[in-house]
Amino acid sequence: MKRVFVTRQVFPEVAEALRQRFEVDHNESDRPYTPAEMAGRIASANGVLSTVMDKLGEDILSAGKHLEVVSNIAVGYNNVDVAAATARGIRVTNTPGVLDDTTADLTWALLMAAARRIAEGDAYVRRGDWKIAFSMSAFLGADLHHATLGVLGMGRIGQAIAKRALGFDMRVLYHNRTRLPDADERRLNATWVERDSLLAESDFIVVMVPYSPAVHHFIKAEDFAKMKPTAVFVNTARGGVIDDAALIEALRAKRIASAGVDVFEGEPALNPGYLELPNVVLTPHIGSASRATRLRMCETAVLNLTAVLEGRTPPHLVNPQVLQGAKA
Ligand code: GLV
Repeated sequence: MKRVFVTRQVFPEVAEALRQRFEVDHNESDRPYTPAEMAGRIASANGVLSTVMDKLGEDILSAGKHLEVVSNIAVGYNNVDVAAATARGIRVTNTPGVLDDTTADLTWALLMAAARRIAEGDAYVRRGDWKIAFSMSAFLGADLHHATLGVLGMGRIGQAIAKRALGFDMRVLYHNRTRLPDADERRLNATWVERDSLLAESDFIVVMVPYSPAVHHFIKAEDFAKMKPTAVFVNTARGGVIDDAALIEALRAKRIASAGVDVFEGEPALNPGYLELPNVVLTPHIGSASRATRLRMCETAVLNLTAVLEGRTPPHLVNPQVLQGAKA
């Protein structure tokens, strides 16, 4: 029987489905393993079911002498050294599509929370500071309706975010390496613009590009300087896509109005500067966190893993070059 290592806790029904077919080493404690523990577990595994927080670099992958597949329970896979995996004939898979709407919903939750100062208001009420029944100028925020939304990165999730703007009668600008087909631009009422125009003209700016070293600090101090002082900025993409220190400085200096952030450089550690700011809403990397979506992600990851271990091509292979190579 092939052996599968599940790096973190998954839903019981997912673990059970795996046990029907494989010998399963399931980290039910949910405590992230140290690199040495990871390498030790991977040494005897044919397949790994991993999460975005598991750093699977060359050092760990090279311990996987029998390893055929790394099935990441995520759309992103920047936690895996794909080149090192490919060189060893290891298939790497992800779970695209199933989390688009849930992540778009969370992005909107942060847009609305940052615009309307929801977290600030909640803290104020809980502290018992609310003494005057209705104050004309208290907690004034920004209107989303009829404003301009800028989407940087118009893949599936970017489009799901843009689609929601139709209900708010927003003007939508987007920037992407490739333009959408005309029909999609019309469907989303979205206009392609240069990156700098998007930064300068948008009232709300969302970044949704997958992380790779090429987009490290894709948004940095000079970009925040191009935004309106009233701009609301949201990052639900990946830590490292924006320069956290630059965002903190822009918020502190009121170069932009507010922000919502779900992903951080070095998470779960985060730049302590965030904690001092009232004008930022922080969530702990929960873009895809609804039960239904997390379950679909697990099921998709199991399908990918099972396909490889049963000698088939998985539905979501991110390194197809592996099929021509080494251990294929
Ligand atoms: C989550 O961050 C994912 O990439 O799916």
